[in-house]
Amino acid sequence: MDYKVTTYNEQDTIELAQNIESEKFKNMVICLEGDLGSGKTVFTKGFAHALEVTEDVTSPTFNIIKEYTTGEMPLYHMDVYRLDGNIDALGIEEYYTKGGITIIEWADTIIDYLPDKRLDIKIKVIDEEKRVFIMIPHGKKYEDLCEAVL
Ligand SMILES: Nc1ncnc2c1ncn2[C@@H]1O[C@H](COP(=O)(O)OP(=O)(O)OP(=O)(O)O)[C@@H](O)[C@H]1O
Ligand SMILES: [Mg+2]
Repeated sequence: MDYKVTTYNEQDTIELAQNIESEKFKNMVICLEGDLGSGKTVFTKGFAHALEVTEDVTSPTFNIIKEYTTGEMPLYHMDVYRLDGNIDALGIEEYYTKGGITIIEWADTIIDYLPDKRLDIKIKVIDEEKRVFIMIPHGKKYEDLCEAVL
């Protein structure tokens, strides 16, 4: 089953991220897909804030992976947009079981490297501020999470 949430501004998206954060668990993986400017980084910042990460969360586009360790759990924020297939060298799969939470922007571009169990979130841009978030849980824990928060 898919879950749909419509957000009408940035704050709504932050609240959605906070709701998902409230059901967090170790080794959770969230895969974001959506066009440039759809809200992937806004979502991640909202999640990080809820995790009480005190560092400034910025887009990791040129760094690929950023680790934040000041929150309740480690957060691994990835943006794989510019990877261009150089993914093997990155050891991305090691992050999935490191005990923290992984959030991947442009995850759909590395589909073969994603874990089987994960939460896919597809963001559709409707207009300047309206977004539809389509959440697709893969695995029981993610289904329960969606049931609990959405
Ligand atoms: N409902 C909404 N949810 C999230 N962001 C919104 C919304 N409405 C407007 N915005 C704006 O859209 C932009 C989203 O930018 P953001 O950096 O999060 O996109 P992104 O998906 O990470 O893009 P990129 O692919 O370049 O990394 C921000 O400027 C934000 O203020
Ligand atoms: Mg981004």
